[in-house]
Amino acid sequence: MSASPTILLVEDEDGLREALSIVLRRAGYEVLETGSAAEGLRALERSAIDVVVTDLAMEQPLSGMGVLRHTRQFAPGTEVLVMTAFGTIENAVECMRLGAFHYITKPINSEELELLVARAVEHQRLVAENRNLRQRVQEAYRFENIIGSSPAMIRLFEQVTRVAALDTTVLLSGETGTGKELIAHAVHNKSPRAPRSFVAINCGALPETLLESELFGHVKGAFTGAASTKKGLFEEADGGTFFLDEISAAPMSIQVKLLRVIEEKETRRIGDTRSSKIDVRLIAASNSDLQAEVAAGRFREDLYYRLNVVSLRLPPLRERREDIPLLAQHFVQKYASRFHRPTHSIDPAAMRMMMSHPWPGNVRELENVVERAVALGSTDLVKVVDLPSEVSRAESEGSDARAEGEIRTLEEAEREHILGAVGRCGGNLANAAKGLGIGRTTLWRKLKRYGMQVEPEEGAAEA
Ligand SMILES: Nc1ncnc2c1ncn2[C@@H]1O[C@H](COP(=O)(O)OP(=O)(O)OP(=O)(O)O)[C@@H](O)[C@H]1O
Ligand SMILES: [Mg+2]
Repeated sequence: MSASPTILLVEDEDGLREALSIVLRRAGYEVLETGSAAEGLRALERSAIDVVVTDLAMEQPLSGMGVLRHTRQFAPGTEVLVMTAFGTIENAVECMRLGAFHYITKPINSEELELLVARAVEHQRLVAENRNLRQRVQEAYRFENIIGSSPAMIRLFEQVTRVAALDTTVLLSGETGTGKELIAHAVHNKSPRAPRSFVAINCGALPETLLESELFGHVKGAFTGAASTKKGLFEEADGGTFFLDEISAAPMSIQVKLLRVIEEKETRRIGDTRSSKIDVRLIAASNSDLQAEVAAGRFREDLYYRLNVVSLRLPPLRERREDIPLLAQHFVQKYASRFHRPTHSIDPAAMRMMMSHPWPGNVRELENVVERAVALGSTDLVKVVDLPSEVSRAESEGSDARAEGEIRTLEEAEREHILGAVGRCGGNLANAAKGLGIGRTTLWRKLKRYGMQVEPEEGAAEA
C-alpha cells in the first residue's frame, strides 16, 4: 500500500484551511487543499483520495453536502469527514445519513481532527482490504470448492488432478479437519469414474459385525437377523469409487477381507459361497500415522502397501497460515448468506487472532468458529468478542494448545477472562471493571495477584 494516506481538505476560509493543513501534514498525511466545493470535486476526479475533510457550509453553488453526495456516489471507497458549525446538529445528522464517516464541530480541536482522520483512514483501508479479499475468494484457485492458495495446497491440487486420471488406490493422510473427505470427492470427480457412484464408509463408526455386513452384504439367513439378502456397499460402488474413511479403525478380520477385494477384485456376501467380480477404485483415509499402526502390529503391512500406492498428505492449517484469511472470508460469505446476516468481513484484530491460533481442529474448527461468530455476532464485522476464548486468547498467550479434556482451574479461567477483558478494553481498567461487573479496586487487586503491572488508580478506594 502507498506510503502516506492522501487527505483532500475542502474549506473556503483560507486561514483555517492553512492551519488544518499544517496539522494534517504534521500527522504524516499527504494533503491536497481546495477552497471550494467545485475545485474539491475536480481534485477528487484527478487523484486517489483516502479521506475527504470538507466544510459543510460553503459558498454556493456547491456546498459540503454536495461534496459528500458526490464522493459517496463516485468514489465510494473514499471516506468523508464533515466539519460543521457549532449548533447545526441537524445538518450533522443528515450528513451521517448520507454516509459521512463522521462529523466534527467547529471550532476544530486539532487532536480530535487527527483522531477522526486516523480512524477514517483505518476504516477506509479495512474496507478496501476486505473488498480485495472478497475478490480473491471469488477468483481463488477454487478446486472443487476446496479453498487454498498456499504453495502446499496448490501442489496438492496438482497432485489430485494427476492422480485422479490414474485409477490407482490412494491413501490420504492428515490431521482431523484438514479436508481429506473433500479431497477424496475431488479425486473421484476429476476421474473418468465421475459419472458413476462414490460410496463412502467410516470404518470407525460401526461395530465389527455391522461394518462387515455393510461392506460385503449378506444372504438370507446368514446370521440371526439376516431376514433377507442384502447387497454390500462394494457391489453398490461397482464401476465407481469406494472411500474407506478412518481405515486405521478397521478390525483385523475386516483388513483381511479388504485385502482380498483388492487382490482378487471380487467380493462375497456373508453366508454366500459365490463371489462376484467388482471394479472399484479405492481411496482410504487416516488421521493417524498408519505406518506407526503397522509397526505396532495393529494394521496389516500387506494391506498398507496395497493402499499406499499413491499417498497424499494434507498439511495442517498451522503449516499454511496464509490460507486462513481466504478460508475465513469464504466461510463468512457462506454463513452470512445461509443465516441471512449482514456480516461481510472480519475485523483486523479478530483476523490477527485467527492468524495466530494453532487450530488443532484445522479447517473444521475454523469453519465452526466463523459459523458461530456470524450467527451470534451483532454487527456486520466479525469482531474479537465474537470469537471463542480459545481463539481470542491465542495472540497473547502464544500457541499453547491445551490437551483435550484437561480441566482448567477456576482461578486460571478467571485470570484469562480478566486479562481478555482488559485487553479488549484497550487497557482501560474502568471500562473493563464495568464490563466484568466488579468494582475497579477489585479488578486492580486481581490484576496485581495475576502479576499484571498496574498503576494504583485514582479513586481506587471505592468498592
Ligand atoms: N480447503 C478447504 N476449503 C474449504 N472447506 C474446507 C477445506 N478443508 C476442509 N474444509 C471443510 O472443513 C470440514 C472438514 O473437512 P473434512 O471432513 O474433509 O476433513 P477430514 O480431514 O476428513 O477430517 P476427519 O479426519 O476429522 O474426518 C468440512 O466441512 C470441509 O468442507
Ligand atoms: Mg473425514
